[in-house]
Amino acid sequence: MSAPQPIHLHDYQLPAYRVTHTELKFDLSPSATRVVARLHLERHSERQEDNLPLVLNGEHLKLLRVAIDGQELGAGEYSVDAETLTIFEVPQRFLLDTEVEIAPESNTALEGLYLSNGMFCTQCEAEGFRRITYYPDRPDVMATFSTTVIGDAASLPVLLSNGNPVERGELPNGRHFVTWEDPFPKPCYLFALVAGDLEKVEDRFTTMSGRDVTLQIWVEKENLDKTDHAMASLKRAMKWDEDTYGREYDLDLFMIVAVNDFNMGAMENKGLNIFNSAAVLTHPLTATDAAFQRVEGIVAHEYFHNWSGNRVTCRDWFQLSLKEGFTVFRDQSFSADTNSAPVKRIEDVSFFRTAQFAEDAGPTAHPVRPDHYIEISNFYTLTIYEKGAEVVRMLRNLLGWEAFRKGTDLYFSRFDGQAVTIEDFVGCMHEVSGQDLSQFMSWYSQAGTPEIDANGHYDYAKSEYHLTLRQRTPATPDQHEKLPLHIPIRLGLVGTKSGDDLEMTLDGETLGKDAVIHLREEEQNFVFTGIAEAPVPSLLRGFSAPVKLRFPYGREDLAFLLQHDSDGFNRWDAGQRLAMLALDDLIAAHRNGVEKVMDVRVVDAFRTLLTAKVDDKAVLAEMLTLPSEAYIAEQQPVVDVDAIHAARTFVKQSLAVALRDEFMAVYGDHQSDVSYAPEPGQIADRALKNVALSYLMSIEDEEAVALTQQQFEADHNMTDVRAALTLLTHSSRSDLADPALKAFGEKWAHDSLVMDQWFSIQVTRPQPDVLERLKFLMQHPAFSLKNPNKVRALIGTFASQNRVNFHRIDGEGYQLLADVVIELNKLNPEIAARIITPLTRWQRFDETRQALMKAELERIRAEELSPNVYEVVEKALA
Ligand code: ARG
Ligand code: ZN
Repeated sequence: MSAPQPIHLHDYQLPAYRVTHTELKFDLSPSATRVVARLHLERHSERQEDNLPLVLNGEHLKLLRVAIDGQELGAGEYSVDAETLTIFEVPQRFLLDTEVEIAPESNTALEGLYLSNGMFCTQCEAEGFRRITYYPDRPDVMATFSTTVIGDAASLPVLLSNGNPVERGELPNGRHFVTWEDPFPKPCYLFALVAGDLEKVEDRFTTMSGRDVTLQIWVEKENLDKTDHAMASLKRAMKWDEDTYGREYDLDLFMIVAVNDFNMGAMENKGLNIFNSAAVLTHPLTATDAAFQRVEGIVAHEYFHNWSGNRVTCRDWFQLSLKEGFTVFRDQSFSADTNSAPVKRIEDVSFFRTAQFAEDAGPTAHPVRPDHYIEISNFYTLTIYEKGAEVVRMLRNLLGWEAFRKGTDLYFSRFDGQAVTIEDFVGCMHEVSGQDLSQFMSWYSQAGTPEIDANGHYDYAKSEYHLTLRQRTPATPDQHEKLPLHIPIRLGLVGTKSGDDLEMTLDGETLGKDAVIHLREEEQNFVFTGIAEAPVPSLLRGFSAPVKLRFPYGREDLAFLLQHDSDGFNRWDAGQRLAMLALDDLIAAHRNGVEKVMDVRVVDAFRTLLTAKVDDKAVLAEMLTLPSEAYIAEQQPVVDVDAIHAARTFVKQSLAVALRDEFMAVYGDHQSDVSYAPEPGQIADRALKNVALSYLMSIEDEEAVALTQQQFEADHNMTDVRAALTLLTHSSRSDLADPALKAFGEKWAHDSLVMDQWFSIQVTRPQPDVLERLKFLMQHPAFSLKNPNKVRALIGTFASQNRVNFHRIDGEGYQLLADVVIELNKLNPEIAARIITPLTRWQRFDETRQALMKAELERIRAEELSPNVYEVVEKALA
């Protein structure tokens, strides 16, 4: 087999033919579904000499018939290979009829048309449509669709596709059909079909121009009681997009369907969003607060795509962040407006700095707009999504909201119905603001995380504060030279006497107390004048750019900012930095075999947090949360998993011992038996209470053990139950862990999404027996390698969150992951290529682990690989 070849952005060419209208007819059967397609085709060029052959994509299809304008083609007139159908000569304008057979039941890749729990469903983004029928499967070919779905009336009573149902009826042999018409031209990646035994909940929404839209959520019957939150979220998202971006929904019907087997979170198919059931279904007894918030965010995300993605789509897949980065920015803003804005920002940034920074520093680093790829499914990444969102956020901040909104209005109106590029988007921003964004464009083309070294000093005599900023972006695998970026740095200078933000003047210009300065050169000096008292700088407020910023803060400075910074995000970040300094010392002590001593300044800072009456309890809960092991690892030159674990555990236990009564008081004060609602006040109380309990349980305080067991048994809501079960499971006492796990596992055996949580909780256990437990759980009847949620819950959670055990020095953790990757490579290449990630980060570890991890990657490489796994493994071993 020849090695898969990359495709390049600079090779982009307009399609030779366009499809103006697509007619599809599906005759559904698990083993042999017939797909009849009629494409209305037109050559782009009018010139006869441009009469290029028509090349259509198609994979895993059995071609039964091909005809042009009703004339069946003979053997010499076309050719078929594993990836294409080529017709040598075609007229200027014509109808192409094809008929193919496909086997949804053997589709374990979950791309194209597949079966999930007996129900037919599709996933076409990015290149799944070519597994359904022969088609120009590229986003710049946009057509209206008319789709007839035929199925068995008894087993498949519900037949759905995009747009509006226009006809339905009975057919012989107990079959029936529904015909759907989607009037909006769309690329085929937005096509969807669902057929199954489903039930719906229905609601309505009146749009800003007074149009009445029917909203439906389709689920399996037993899940009808788990749709309220998704429906409420959908209505809030529809209203928010009208109020915030002036975007109105455009069809009479909007449907969401929940499916159990799904590679990602959800998919924005026009009028028919298909969701991983984990991203729709919630119930107070089965879903945590975090899950409720995730559902709200994903429902909004997919809905927002109706404009940022569907009405205006991507010219090619290199532009993926055009829709994903922008839409993530939109959903983040929505969630911030609906819940606690500072907490949303803290959560997003702390995830970003852990996971996206690691991606940007690893072998698969790529720009927000990649310039080549082998397999596009590998590029649904944190860089495309989250860094892309940070880049859009910087644009919003550079322009200010009003100009940015003018820019989005222009973008949506100018490019409605078109497939466009990132230049088109940024061009609108330039046009409405007059700002020069040419240097800014490098954010899209340059991979890697910029590092800023900041230094400052106060000149008493002149009342000046001097700030020096130096930027550098480390080399990434295929980019060695890096250009200086345009980096907006939001900052304040906090007076050490007053504790207030000081008025800033720069180059004679008054900036105010909170301002943005622009770093464009490799190094720049900023002199702030009229600074009456010595300040501590509060830099990169709100994480104003996706960079690493170092400043030689003393611990007193950080304790000061933790109390006085007017920016909630930086107040939290000061606490994280303070904890990191203490952790660094303890990691060194552990490595050197020196006795560990807790830094009293951290204890004092925590005492102040616990006893002061902080009004934002959600932020307080975040402040009391220590940096994760993964985040700490990101800060180390060579990751020492054992030292990190030991140091973090030591800090946690020391704080628990020193502040036992304070934690106990916080726990007691935030107990409540009001009926569950996923609203910010309650969520904050639960977060705070459960953080306090986790400290107390780290020392297995007797009273805390009793409280944890009570909380578990009270079964008030999944947030509290899961928090308690996790603490019991993580304790060293098997008399606590085992009975609780058993009770929970039996109680929820019927609920697949709760069982996912049961799997995850067990494999995050720090004790060394976890690998044996994991192997045992892989044999559990509820586990299946074919279900991505199960793979993520058990294998993904273990490899990414149980760092001490995954990185066991005997290499057993690595071996287990490689075994799973080898199996999944055959079943579901997209999931295989994702789950492998922790192994690709081998460069970060000591030599022994490096060798073990590389040996597993080599073992995988020796297999016959899907393009997905091939691309990742090749990069990891390059
Ligand atoms: N567009 C979907 C979303 O909003 C994700 C689709 C992912 N598809 C894939 N093959 N990975 O996030
Ligand atoms: Zn998306």
